[in-house]
Amino acid sequence: MRKKIVAGNWKMNNNKEETAQLIAALKAKGSFAGVEVKVAPTSIHLVQAVDALIDSAIEVIGQNMHQATNGAYTGEISASMLQSIGVNSVILGHSERRAYFNETDEALAEKVATAVKHDMEVVFCFGEELADRQNEQHFKVVEEQLSKALFSLPNTAWGKIVLAYEPVWAIGTGETASPEQAQEMHAFIRGLVAQQYDASVAENVAILYGGSVKSANAQEIFSKPDVDGGLIGGAALNADDFFAIVQSI
Ligand code: 13P
Repeated sequence: MRKKIVAGNWKMNNNKEETAQLIAALKAKGSFAGVEVKVAPTSIHLVQAVDALIDSAIEVIGQNMHQATNGAYTGEISASMLQSIGVNSVILGHSERRAYFNETDEALAEKVATAVKHDMEVVFCFGEELADRQNEQHFKVVEEQLSKALFSLPNTAWGKIVLAYEPVWAIGTGETASPEQAQEMHAFIRGLVAQQYDASVAENVAILYGGSVKSANAQEIFSKPDVDGGLIGGAALNADDFFAIVQSI
């Protein structure tokens, strides 16, 4: 049976004290059965978060990582730096990284390859923009994003890949894909993976949905057979809301 995952992407939110408070509030919620829970604080709070969550089932993951092993890349973070502080999973390809930091499919392919080489888990984000959906190009766009960044990976790498379908028009907008739209796209994605690899790889890859998931809509979205959890932005900044979403799975 494939994994169920709920991950909180905290983006560029929370100072040191607020990070400590959110972690303490999450820890107070107790354990989470049958679901992997992950949180992605901003990079300067990763050490603090790993330390605070050392005795908890909540995993700390990175929001981004550079493709090079090391070198003159001011402001960047490498895979081995993340691993050296106990972070073994990283979000790559978020639409905000693509839109505001010019991350291309080609650069993302390199980042994914570097993460895989370091035996890190990758939560790979992708999804169409509003105009793509309006022009009925959404399947094509998603296929291209996956194909360019992931489909050169060997079968064996897929044990470390988590897919996160995040339609750009649903991120931070309050507008969610309907459960049916999410299921339709997730089934399409699983079909692509089956076509490119095999049925077993496709069956085992977790596909998360992201984009305005709240406690009020999580259950309906998560009830769809090809939706294996969520990547949560705004609602992950509040422990009660995030916990309610985790419990919806
Ligand atoms: P929101 O849940 O705030 O729409 O953000 C989703 C997201 O981008 C998670 O990575």
